[in-house]
Amino acid sequence: MSKSATLNVDGKSFEFEVITGSENEKCIDIQKLRSETGYITLDPGFGNTGSCFSSITYVDGAKGILQYRGYPIEDLAEKSTFVETAYLILYGELPKAEQLRDFSARLKEHAPLNTNLEHHFSGLPNNAPPMAILSAMLNLVSCFHPEVLEVPTTGAEFDRTASLLLSKVRTIAAFAYRMACGKPINHPNPNLTYCGNFLHMMFSDPYQEYEVSPIIDKALNLFLILHADHEQNCSTTTVRVVGSSRANLFSSVSAGVCALWGPLHGGANSAVIAMLEDIKDSGRPLTYYLDKAKDKNDSFRLMGFGHRVYKNFDPRSIILKKQVHSVLEALNINDNLLKIALELEEATLNDDYFVSRNLYPNVDFYSGLLLRAIGIPLNMYTVMFAIGRMPGWIANWKELHDHKLRISRPRQIYTGETARPYVSIAKR
Ligand code: ACO
Repeated sequence: MSKSATLNVDGKSFEFEVITGSENEKCIDIQKLRSETGYITLDPGFGNTGSCFSSITYVDGAKGILQYRGYPIEDLAEKSTFVETAYLILYGELPKAEQLRDFSARLKEHAPLNTNLEHHFSGLPNNAPPMAILSAMLNLVSCFHPEVLEVPTTGAEFDRTASLLLSKVRTIAAFAYRMACGKPINHPNPNLTYCGNFLHMMFSDPYQEYEVSPIIDKALNLFLILHADHEQNCSTTTVRVVGSSRANLFSSVSAGVCALWGPLHGGANSAVIAMLEDIKDSGRPLTYYLDKAKDKNDSFRLMGFGHRVYKNFDPRSIILKKQVHSVLEALNINDNLLKIALELEEATLNDDYFVSRNLYPNVDFYSGLLLRAIGIPLNMYTVMFAIGRMPGWIANWKELHDHKLRISRPRQIYTGETARPYVSIAKR
């Protein structure tokens, strides 16, 4: 017999089904709450709201566990590539050799942008924020591929739409960077790997072809794998909410890019580096920043700390911290921001404010240091996050349609004026 939860309200008792997920997560199904009781639930920020069933990613915030399709993030980070992990997230299984070959071939085929789309980059100011360009261009891409404006109805249509998006996001990101530097764009090279091709488009110059170092290629793969999905976070929820109106995949992920841009979400990775630079340049003691972060009258927060779900170490930050050390060593770089970051982490671990609120380093705390080591410019950090998150956004958008979910439309508790007569302008 399935379990149920009882709610007593207005002297009556109501039963609601209790549902258990495959990792033993429990929820009370309140879909009939309003029609049966007249009440709604109130949960600003959705901290307790399950908005869907999903079989893509599992997070246990108390234990610091993250799995994509059941595979631990630690294993994928060590053994997989971004393209293989993207396939896993999109299709649910690790690809066989032939499937991976076909998928990679599709990504290569879709890497170039239509020449007319290329022209749009040159009309933008040099200091245009790359996240604004990325979001706009993702919408524009769909103008050149009208078939992606529809929800795919066959597997083949989905394969094409998903690989087109996954491939072109990388080209758009690199072109945006080249344009902002006033440098000529580099067209994709089909002989390179997914990450190698991105680095080539970013950094090759007319007389100096960028040589992709295996250390940097691996580090970039790892960065993208760690960002590939994270269940119902702010940007993924945005993609789902927009997609629930049956908006096409490109406009849905374009909205996801905008949600990611904010400093409390993906924008934190560049904000962390800005904060560490400020600590270095100002010469102020760490206690100054800790006190500022604790001061409720100050909006400053320690960037890269805290998480809605993780109340323990974010497993991605543990992997990234190790990786930053090994990449800096392999590339023989001495980054004094790493020393400051380690001291800051140590200081928070010994500070009751951070300990009592479970504020540990999140994915963004060490990811910027890794991107710095591999030569990615600061204004591209959140764009890198967006490239990495693309498989997760696409898979969540697809799952939304597979599950035939209703349009997203939360309720509210109205606290404004009650009904009153119109007052003519002369009497106001
Ligand atoms: N610095 C100082 N205090 C913090 C921080 C921080 N980074 N994060 C949370 N707190 C405090 C809050 O002030 C609050 O204190 P209170 O209980 O005394 O009022 C308490 O910790 C709980 O914080 P909330 O804001 O309620 O936590 P929420 O789950 O809503 O926010 C978030 C999570 C947005 C990540 C928050 O921790 C934060 O702002 N961190 C800094 C920005 C950041 O690193 N964002 C990246 C997150 S990971 C990602 O999106 C990829």
